[in-house]
Amino acid sequence: MLIHDKIAAQLPAWRERVSRLVKNYGSYKVCDVTVEQIYGGIRDVQIQVTDISVVDPYEGVRLRGYTVPEVLQLLPKVPGAEYPLLGGLYYLLMVDELPTLEDALAVEAEWRTRNQIPAHVYNVLKTMPPDTHPMTLLSQGIMALQTNSVFSRYYSNGGAVKNDYWKAYLEDSLNLTACMPILAAFIYNLKYRNGDFIPPDPSLDWAANFAHMIGKDDPHYMDLCRLFFVIHADHEGGNVSAHTSHLVGSALSDTYLACAAGLNGLAGPLHGLANQECLRWLLKVREHFGGIPSKEQIAEFARAQLESGQLIPGYGHAVLRITDPRFSVQLDFAEKYCPDDELIVLVKRIYETLPDILKATGKVKNPYPNVDAINGALQYHYGVREFDFYTVLFGVSRVLGFTAHLVWARALGKPIERPKSLTTNMLEELVGLRPPADKG
Ligand SMILES: CC(C)(COP(=O)(O)OP(=O)(O)OC[C@H]1O[C@@H](n2cnc3c(N)ncnc32)[C@H](O)[C@@H]1OP(=O)(O)O)[C@@H](O)C(=O)NCCC(=O)NCCS
Repeated sequence: MLIHDKIAAQLPAWRERVSRLVKNYGSYKVCDVTVEQIYGGIRDVQIQVTDISVVDPYEGVRLRGYTVPEVLQLLPKVPGAEYPLLGGLYYLLMVDELPTLEDALAVEAEWRTRNQIPAHVYNVLKTMPPDTHPMTLLSQGIMALQTNSVFSRYYSNGGAVKNDYWKAYLEDSLNLTACMPILAAFIYNLKYRNGDFIPPDPSLDWAANFAHMIGKDDPHYMDLCRLFFVIHADHEGGNVSAHTSHLVGSALSDTYLACAAGLNGLAGPLHGLANQECLRWLLKVREHFGGIPSKEQIAEFARAQLESGQLIPGYGHAVLRITDPRFSVQLDFAEKYCPDDELIVLVKRIYETLPDILKATGKVKNPYPNVDAINGALQYHYGVREFDFYTVLFGVSRVLGFTAHLVWARALGKPIERPKSLTTNMLEELVGLRPPADKG
């Protein structure tokens, strides 16, 4: 198998590289941690290594060294498509090489052989109450698929070899990612289309098939899916969902367990759920003004919201200090295909207004839009209007990133994570506010 062989060929050099670092520079101090950072969500504390992607505050994410516009330009596309094949992106994330069209199609073909979902997975989801959030269903669906885990069987059969764990993780990763569009489409159809099931079309690629399976055969929507899934796939290792899946995987919980855990983090409103909140907010603004407000009206509305202590979804970021490039490439798509859509016009007007309002608060560190400030409006334009589903779309894509991190973490033999927690007394002792405890 292509990805397996490529990783296997790279591994000896990688293992040598890591062991040289640890052996020769093991005591080198990377950073100090302040009391403020401990209480401030361990922001900026450099605690892990991943080579899949990195986020620069002033440039945005680089996936295996490539910026978002470069990835969109350089990854192979099928004839007639303007956006890349996800098989190519997965190859890039896993293998750290730009794929040829043949490589990208080989991953797509591999996915097609692995996309069978057992009936019990569907049955689990069907028994849930109709108002269950789709992210809960996605997580449950992956947990139900866990009965397929190759790693779990390999480990529990005894005799598992540490240097080979990654091979079973890769099997699980390919099997799980192959199923993600089908699982997500099943959830969409179960919740919003009377359970109508549309089987995958073997002539379509991974992303376009998702569009097809929710009843949208519009080639522009298929391209939007390709764009959406490429730009949401990874955002380095420290964000809540990536870090969670990495942490859970470090206990040798298999790919399914680790990815479901990561998606549960993605389901939080400060993280992936922000895309549904953002669309809800756009609709609220439009309804409040009975149409598209002027910039002055937006400014007044936003100020009132901030003064009442509410967040404005889609703006701000823990790392970025610029307009998120993932926002910009979606805006390019919107300018091309639906510039006059009312919500897109609203998104643009908010973009022209809100950064100054947020800057004026004096506390928001990044006053610019993030990826979520527009993606819901694009989905809405193409008729995917059930906005509690938007985080599922994010999740389908993010599992590509999670699994690339997981495979490489096992390949490089990363150990179980166990940082240290302190008590408030201990911190007060450290800073001199309290005499050292009498240990006698
Ligand atoms: C993304 C986010 C969680 C980053 O949090 P962070 O790193 O703590 O952000 P900051 O350091 O800039 O926060 C400083 C202050 O500005 C506030 N702030 C940040 N973004 C804000 C926003 N969009 N609207 C209102 N206030 C915001 C924070 O709540 C914080 O206020 P506090 O000091 O009273 O607690 C935050 O910007 C946010 O909640 N954004 C809206 C949700 C969103 O779009 N999430 C998707 C992220 S991809």
